[in-house]
Amino acid sequence: MKLFAVSLMFIASFCIFIGFIENIVNTEHVDNTPNPREINHIHFNEDDLNLWWFVQLTDIHVSKFKDPKRPEDLIKFCRHHLPRIAPELIIVTGDLTDAKYRNERGSAQFIEEWKGYGEVVTLCQKYNNDVKWLDLRGNHDAFNVPDMDDRKNLFRTYSEQGGVNPTSYLYTHKTKFGDYSFIAMDATPDPGPRRPFNFCGSLREKEIKLLKKLSKDSKNSNMTFWFGHYPTSFIVTADNSDVRQLMRNASVYFCGHLHTWAGLIPDMYTRHRTGMYELELADWKDNRVYRVVAIDNNVMAFSDQVFHEEPVVIFTNPQHAKFPSPHKVTSSHIRLLVFSPSEDLSVTVYIDNQKIGIAKKVRGPLYVLPWKPELFKNGQHHIKAVVKEKDFVIQEKTQPFSLDGTIEPFPLRARLILMLNFPLLGKCLFYFLVIVYCVVLCLLRRCTDIRSIQLEGRMMPARFIRNFINLWIFRIWLVSKTTRIFLILISFTIYLAVGPWFVAEVVDGHTGILFVWGLYVKGAILPDFLTYLYGIFQMVTFNIPLLFHVGYVLGYPQSFSEASRLRFSHRLRHLYIPMIALILFQSYMTLVEFPYAYGTKAMILGPVRTGSIFVGLYCYYLARSHHSKSALHSS
Ligand SMILES: *[C@@H]1O[C@H](CO)[C@@H](O)[C@H](O)[C@H]1NC(C)=O
Ligand SMILES: *[C@@H]1O[C@H](CO)[C@@H](O)[C@H](O)[C@H]1NC(C)=O
Repeated sequence: MKLFAVSLMFIASFCIFIGFIENIVNTEHVDNTPNPREINHIHFNEDDLNLWWFVQLTDIHVSKFKDPKRPEDLIKFCRHHLPRIAPELIIVTGDLTDAKYRNERGSAQFIEEWKGYGEVVTLCQKYNNDVKWLDLRGNHDAFNVPDMDDRKNLFRTYSEQGGVNPTSYLYTHKTKFGDYSFIAMDATPDPGPRRPFNFCGSLREKEIKLLKKLSKDSKNSNMTFWFGHYPTSFIVTADNSDVRQLMRNASVYFCGHLHTWAGLIPDMYTRHRTGMYELELADWKDNRVYRVVAIDNNVMAFSDQVFHEEPVVIFTNPQHAKFPSPHKVTSSHIRLLVFSPSEDLSVTVYIDNQKIGIAKKVRGPLYVLPWKPELFKNGQHHIKAVVKEKDFVIQEKTQPFSLDGTIEPFPLRARLILMLNFPLLGKCLFYFLVIVYCVVLCLLRRCTDIRSIQLEGRMMPARFIRNFINLWIFRIWLVSKTTRIFLILISFTIYLAVGPWFVAEVVDGHTGILFVWGLYVKGAILPDFLTYLYGIFQMVTFNIPLLFHVGYVLGYPQSFSEASRLRFSHRLRHLYIPMIALILFQSYMTLVEFPYAYGTKAMILGPVRTGSIFVGLYCYYLARSHHSKSALHSS
């Protein structure tokens, strides 16, 4: 009965948790009221007014040690491809340089990398009529930068904007038909510690105030875009406010930072409740991807492209079924942009594989074709453009659309990664693990008769599973009853949650103290998501396996403890090897990870990692001697 109640409670809380997450990543409750300052009825015809476009680049990672082709390819791109697109401006959303040593663990700003980046910008502008270049910093550009005004902040000297706009800024792009504002949000920490504990964006009160002011200053523009390095799900704010609320008047937020999440999420797009789209862009570093964004009569459409793939094709009307316009849209023409090296193209348009006709070139990349939207007013359809040059098909592009308001949902993986709050999630998971660990041990210690909580026969599906669970409950109970080991394990786990992990020079010339809840350096506390991730890692790779192994040692069959040749091999496999593996792995982490990133001080003054080795060995020693003592008693 008890077990039944416990499982029911567990399942219920799990459902509540899933429901909670589902609610956060739901895109159906979007506030669809367009901004009052934007016109809310748009009619697309064949004219080429009110149309312009720009390009986004992100995570270039110019590196002194790795892949010299990153800047070389970018220069090639600027020379041969970009002039065909001829964007009115370029936004670059951070991680301009790599700032990592060859070993990938140490980090610092290198002047060679910055000079390399500066050269790329100069050449790109030279080949593209001095195109406006709006760059800002990413976390890599802030590794080991003690202060915004420090000499080590090379962004100030070598980037395009850094001299005038070292942090967040507003740029308004003026056209004949309206003003378009770009708010650059710099959320890099100041001071900027070395990696790895410099992963999340953080906005202090000062920056929030500045961003609010910039948002206000942009209120007379026809549209406002925000761009920054970090997705909103990886930004901590000093006043715990929601950064998506801060941006609520934006149409789109462009960012980078997560690359493609190891290739798992190449399409990281979503739409927040405020109506704002958030579009993360894969990197230049490994994927050589850039983005062309077209603004056609205040409706946004975009295409993410690999740099040598040509021509770029973007439909601006009808809109992609995932990215409907917040405005009411009517139209007499299909509109698409084809950025091509050749003047002599034929662009044929199909809907649901039925030919609609050949689109007419208006001017520049714009092609239009009259259509009857009434014919497609129900359900989802697919529009396809086939681009031919001298009868050779050089490009095909298909995308879904709907005119009845059916929206194609974003993939769950994209919504999860962009709509949750990862610093908060990491915190909850870490404390959950710590609390369960301690509570289970304490409850078992209070239990005098272990049989009273062991599983009974009827409820369990198989005797094997029941016996397995009962055996492990018994072993952990043995640990909880061994006072010294119990106290050591509990206090070491609580220490993870409250005590300093290490003391080290986290920024040149400044000693910092790392806690799970933040890095304390130069009088500032920098919260991060990675500290919790490392905390979870520590629990899963050390504290929990150690508990199980010590339990195993304590419950090791007495008869097997007697010295005998045969039994030695059993002991070797079951007692020694797991312990040696645990300690070796921990020693590897102790000797490599933090010392490489923050210097040897992090190892010597590192109670968590270095301490783990001693805690592990001591617990094992206690368990062994306890075991042989009780063996002595029973014989
Ligand atoms: C931009 O706003 C101005 C002033 O409100 C308006 O006259 C103009 O038509 C708008 N432009 C577009 C493309 O909506
Ligand atoms: C957003 O726009 C509305 C209406 O123009 C304005 O009242 C509000 O202050 C703006 N919010 C921010 C954060 O700029």
